[in-house]
Amino acid sequence: MADLSLARKGSIICNDMATLADPQPDFAILPDMAADVFTAPLARPAHLGDDWLEPKQTDYTADDHGVWDDLFARQMQVLPGRACNAFMAGLDKLDLSHGGIPEFGKLSQELAQLTGWSVVPVPMLIPDHVFFWHLANRRFPAGNFIRTRATFDYIEEPDVFHDVFGHVPMLTDPTYADYMQEYGRAGWKAMRYNRLKALGALYWYTVEFGLIEEAGEVRAYGAGILSGPTEARFAVEAQSPNRIMLNVDRVMRTDYMISDLQPTYFVIESFGDLFRQTVERDFDRLYRSLPAGFTFANSAVIDVDNVLNRGSQEYHLRGGRGSGAQPV
Ligand SMILES: [Fe+2]
Repeated sequence: MADLSLARKGSIICNDMATLADPQPDFAILPDMAADVFTAPLARPAHLGDDWLEPKQTDYTADDHGVWDDLFARQMQVLPGRACNAFMAGLDKLDLSHGGIPEFGKLSQELAQLTGWSVVPVPMLIPDHVFFWHLANRRFPAGNFIRTRATFDYIEEPDVFHDVFGHVPMLTDPTYADYMQEYGRAGWKAMRYNRLKALGALYWYTVEFGLIEEAGEVRAYGAGILSGPTEARFAVEAQSPNRIMLNVDRVMRTDYMISDLQPTYFVIESFGDLFRQTVERDFDRLYRSLPAGFTFANSAVIDVDNVLNRGSQEYHLRGGRGSGAQPV
């Protein structure tokens, strides 16, 4: 993970196109960052190299594994019928129900056969450009630590349950796996254009909080939804939030909420649709047209929107998290 807040973690989109004003770097080794590109200062722990990878996964206690098992069991009460098919299939393909925090090496072996991805351990935060570089090489950086029982219901920083349970099953889907790699490549481009915030919004509204149409319903594919029981119900069923079909130009101008349930979710038709809307377009041109800040509030419905459900926003109008408002 990188340091764009929980969202950071995101990334985005766009491939090498013949029209690129500046070519993509060679991602085989960590590319040099131009001196005029802003990178948030993060002090690298002395035992880590330039790749910020931990030498090995944490040795978890029995209680750590118990926390994972209890989180897993709780989500399995909620996700059938609310999580997309690719996610549920990914849980099976990776045998994540066998109990205990998964071993990254074994997960990586299984992912390698399916889509060529691996899972690598990192400290809580890593720099954005390093995070993007790992994605561009089909390595998913996952946090080592797991939440405690005291923070069982809500944590600000993603832990191994969010990262592995929420994100990794989706990497078994070939199209989604390609999207994530391209997001990493696009991250470097966004940094050169100083439009990382816009790319972060795309990550937020797809990789973290994305919904997809399936069988005449909306279901979740975003890890921020899939790793928590309240948001899984809220995103898919509640009357409060807007549900709007994804429009990349609009989403990259849209603010988002980090510390509460989302006022708006964006919906894709398919992962092929997501890929086409992002990877198959000229992000150089898009970045040049984007303002440096966000244009639209996180609850706004605007005239270009293809709206599936216009939300009541009751939950947030009543005060949201900490107010006692029900997530209806
Ligand atoms: Fe995440």
